Amino acid sequence: MTRYRRQDPEITRRKFINVAMGTTATVGVVSLVGVLGTANPVFRLTRDKMPPVPGDILVHASASKEGQPIKISELSEQLVRAWPMGKDKEGKNLIRKGDPNNVLAVFRFPQGQLVPPTNLEATISGEIVAYSDVCTHAGCSVSDDDQQEGQMKCPCHSGQYDPKRGCKVIGGPPPRPLAQLPIKQEGEQLVVAEFFLANPYPFTEAEWEARIEAVKAQLA
Ligand code: FES
Repeated sequence: MTRYRRQDPEITRRKFINVAMGTTATVGVVSLVGVLGTANPVFRLTRDKMPPVPGDILVHASASKEGQPIKISELSEQLVRAWPMGKDKEGKNLIRKGDPNNVLAVFRFPQGQLVPPTNLEATISGEIVAYSDVCTHAGCSVSDDDQQEGQMKCPCHSGQYDPKRGCKVIGGPPPRPLAQLPIKQEGEQLVVAEFFLANPYPFTEAEWEARIEAVKAQLA
């Protein structure tokens, strides 16, 4: 206030109040946008960037089959990369690949090989399981073309996960397991049954809880 008076002694009290109010409002809006844009990015969240949502269908992510629904009969111990596919506002199919962190890994193991800490209730028949495919260390896609059957080795820093045991870390620097995605069977297709059971990369637990609530509110 003092500075303004020094710089412009002719300014009237009303002009000063108008300027001050305008400045305050501008700063307030900028601050609010800043806060919402960083602390609560859901304000920029479009449907293609939403994480897998209950009811989504899992479709192939590989270039040769991208967008085709994954059939249960084509699954094996070989990792299959997938995207969740939901609906846009008009009800048309929409692959949620606007966020590369949405890529998933799907396996089918012989009965009895999937064991805790895998959440068996979140699998199909204790045989088919889906996880986030994004490494919890630094966000690389874990799967690549060199994956051996039943293995998940991150190509970036040699992180290793065990998909038969809840994708727990069995080597390298990842700090926590890959998040398991509950799935169910509808005909020959795989459908998302619930949100990830734990916070996937890059979310903290609190951020993930907030993201789920925001997605629910946005889709309600
Ligand atoms: S990003 Fe996967 S081990 Fe570093």
